Amino acid sequence: MTTRLDNRKVDELRKIKIELGVSKNAEGSCYLEWGKNIVIATVNGPKPVFPRHLADPQKAVVDYKYRMACFSVSERKSPVPGKRDKEISLVSGNALESAIMVEQFPNTLIDVNVLILSADAGTRVAALTAASLAAADAGLPMRGMISAVAAGRANEQLVLDLTKDEEDTADAVDMACAFLMPQKEIVLLQMDGFVKKEDCSKILENALIGAEKIYDIQKKALLEKYPLEGEIQL
Ligand code: CDP
Repeated sequence: MTTRLDNRKVDELRKIKIELGVSKNAEGSCYLEWGKNIVIATVNGPKPVFPRHLADPQKAVVDYKYRMACFSVSERKSPVPGKRDKEISLVSGNALESAIMVEQFPNTLIDVNVLILSADAGTRVAALTAASLAAADAGLPMRGMISAVAAGRANEQLVLDLTKDEEDTADAVDMACAFLMPQKEIVLLQMDGFVKKEDCSKILENALIGAEKIYDIQKKALLEKYPLEGEIQL
């Protein structure tokens, strides 16, 4: 087995550091470092919807905005949201909505903002992982956490959590996956690259193993800020 470009094992995540409640102006917030990715997520709401016709009488509307700071990548990123930002915002908002009990808050808005301060591949999954924690930090009732990670192929081996250098290899496959945990429901699945059917299943299995590790890290971060008393099992 060849070693990875950053010497990690094939199933090893990059180092993750999480801090909750970092923004005093948001109801919930999360700062996340994941390898060389740096993300900040805030959640506000439920609050009134303007203009009113955008309200949904059945549930809260989750308005998820994924943005990259101009300085987050080596070539200056335009602050104007492009097609990629809008696509990521839409699919991520749908994924996060599946975790929040939106039906409890009809005719309201839940505002989710995620800013990528530094990007090194896997930013959409880092963003969702942080946004889910920010939603919990905001005290929203939730069915579970969204634990998201990318898995794929680089340099002829199946790997977990690709860096940008790995994503840029000739045979790269990058599958962004998000799971509602602990239910293990897939709530987001996107893929770049070409892959055989059997490798596709294996990559998905690797992603779930990664998501289980992410879920443990998320629970630890939540318990650090909100210690539980007694024998409650998360
Ligand atoms: O970040 P993620 O893997 O979710 O999305 P991607 O579209 O596959 O982008 C992979 C990486 O390309 C990003 O994390 C950035 O490091 C880089 N990128 C960039 O340099 N400039 C952009 N406008 C978009 C992405």
